[in-house]
Amino acid sequence: MTARERVAGTVANYVDERTGAAAWMKKNLQKVFPDHWSFMLGEVALYSFIILLLSGTFLTFWFDPSMRHVVYEGSYQPLKDVEMSASYASTLHISFDVRGGLLMRQIHHWAALIFMAAIVVHLLRVFFTGAFRKPREFNWILGIALLTLGIVEGFLGYSLPDDLLSGTGIRIAHAIIQSIPVVGTYLSFFAFGGAFPGEIFIPRIYIVHVLLLPGIFLALITVHLMLVWYQKHTQYPGPGRTEKNVVGYPLMPVYMAKAGGFFFIVFGVTAFLGAVASINPIWLYGPYTPGQISAGSQPDWYMGWLDGLVRMAPPIETHAFGHTISWNILLPGLIIPGIIFTGMALYPFIESWISGDKREHHLLDRPRNVPNRTALGVMSLTFMVIAMINGGRIGILVLPPLAFVITKRICLSLQRADRELVLHGKETGRLVMLPHGEFIEVHEELSAEKKFTLTQHEQVKAISLVKEDTGGVLNPKGIRAKLQARFSAANAENIAKPTATEVKELEGGHH
Ligand code: HEM
Repeated sequence: MTARERVAGTVANYVDERTGAAAWMKKNLQKVFPDHWSFMLGEVALYSFIILLLSGTFLTFWFDPSMRHVVYEGSYQPLKDVEMSASYASTLHISFDVRGGLLMRQIHHWAALIFMAAIVVHLLRVFFTGAFRKPREFNWILGIALLTLGIVEGFLGYSLPDDLLSGTGIRIAHAIIQSIPVVGTYLSFFAFGGAFPGEIFIPRIYIVHVLLLPGIFLALITVHLMLVWYQKHTQYPGPGRTEKNVVGYPLMPVYMAKAGGFFFIVFGVTAFLGAVASINPIWLYGPYTPGQISAGSQPDWYMGWLDGLVRMAPPIETHAFGHTISWNILLPGLIIPGIIFTGMALYPFIESWISGDKREHHLLDRPRNVPNRTALGVMSLTFMVIAMINGGRIGILVLPPLAFVITKRICLSLQRADRELVLHGKETGRLVMLPHGEFIEVHEELSAEKKFTLTQHEQVKAISLVKEDTGGVLNPKGIRAKLQARFSAANAENIAKPTATEVKELEGGHH
């Protein structure tokens, strides 16, 4: 034993005698985690969250969340002697006069954009592979909560500097709050402490941004990861992988090394972007004054869909009982987002109702094998992208359903291609002339592993509609059962996968 090993042993022993950690660590560090590149998306979200905490803490040392009026005397000459809030002046100070300040601001902002992108792509991975199914529905709902909080946290963050762009964003939020029927005006008075913009909104959202939401994030992410740990991670299908086992590598040393290295890659990429790519150059926008707005005002990307929906809404207002209801803000600003997020949170339950499948699932789906879900996902994505690029009122109504139909057809075609592959093998491009003059292309049979992977999945069956029970009494759940039967028939539309007999027959001889 070398001296170093002896010292390490003594330290470990000292800690273990006082905490009893060794047995716990031995069990958990050997935990097996399945391997797939897409499982790193959640990790990117986690690491960018850590970067946000570190860079954000740095910014709090100099940022002054106050609406106090000051006259700018810092080193950015174009704004010299301009009147502004202390919030804006301190953000300029961080950008121009604090060593490393601009770099930290830019790292913080880039980390926020990457965090949100990682969350969304991670969500898509979980959705398209069916990882949200029983027993992981609760983790899915936690995820939707994290996504929602992420959007709010990002919005509050870029609202803090009190520049012209952030003030414009707050103005939109103010209008959305006011559009709530009956209580809107009171709520906005409560939030802003009186009329817009007031003096207290920024100090308030500062505490929410640096204390309240990060605390909630830390708690929710901890529970999220504990659930992944406890329920075990899902795995992609393949030979040897079943609903009852986990095939992969142990946490220590394989994943510890990978995760540690990967954190530094995410940090490196974020720091590189922060160093070379300008983001939110607030000195170009100037301080916020309610009477001004710049023509090209755009929010951060994860707010773009909401901004697009509000811009796209037709000007509808109704007046009733002395109240004005601005549907043009209420609908795109609150009702549609509410429906989208509630629908997403409830999706695992809706799908299991339609398919009638209440079993646990630890093996993931290949998206093509669940055409309806995949098509619904692409349809929702199309809706969001059209809203984000402000693709027009006709576009937002016509293109998402079109995306549904096209995606479903593509999935079914891919299923057909899989069936062909299993039954007839891969095309090799080698043409051969048979003795009687016919040309054929030689097909190469798939390996047993590949055949297994392409055919191991279960195909959903439609629920048959039960109109009467055994005693001849009409089903009291008539309409619900009808709806369920209709959805489940659409859900069960699939290309029949090859049966064992079909494969055997073909293996017996011809192509
Ligand atoms: C702050 C944001 C989030 C963080 C830090 C985070 C982190 C993680 C990590 C590290 C994993 C394990 C690796 C992986 O499967 O990628 C995971 C798994 C999971 N996450 Fe998230 N996540 C976040 C948001 C979300 C969202 C928005 C959803 C969906 C609505 C979600 C749903 C899930 C589910 C269902 C699992 C289990 C996946 C499986 O076992 O295959 N998470 N998360």
